[in-house]
Amino acid sequence: MDKGKMFETLIEKVEAMLKSEEPNRKKLKVICRLLKNNIPGYDWIGFYLVDPNNERELIIGPYVGEPTEHVRIPFGQGVCGRAADLGETVIVSDVSKEDNYLACSTKVKSEIVLPIFKKGKLIGELDIDSHQQSAFDDADKKYLLKICELASELI
Ligand code: SME
Repeated sequence: MDKGKMFETLIEKVEAMLKSEEPNRKKLKVICRLLKNNIPGYDWIGFYLVDPNNERELIIGPYVGEPTEHVRIPFGQGVCGRAADLGETVIVSDVSKEDNYLACSTKVKSEIVLPIFKKGKLIGELDIDSHQQSAFDDADKKYLLKICELASELI
């Protein structure tokens, strides 16, 4: 199946799941699980949320994958902190070539971080790690930004 079809099916599943009565944090976790189970090469998927008490810091939210020590990330630090600072998507094709990078696992080879906005304000991020190099391209970015738009309603 091509990537477009795969994501379109996934987005339909996310939209259907959003109609359930589950709490929002649970729904964020289900989005992570749907991404992991439906898109090959997505190995760690999680949300980071802007700390309401310190708007220059991210706190880890719902995720699926191995536990990480990076539960709080100041803006500017690592790929997540950089995406938060820029308010833009950051794609790293080869994390071994990245100076400003916070390693979670030696298995991770590439990463994408997408900002989540609500009413023009950054409220969080979607972070995905892959054990494959160059796992993310503009198609991933396009569809994942749609997922971020849906997720913004849950934060
Ligand atoms: N690699 C990220 C840290 C978060 S983990 O990937 C879960 C970074 O450099 O910001």
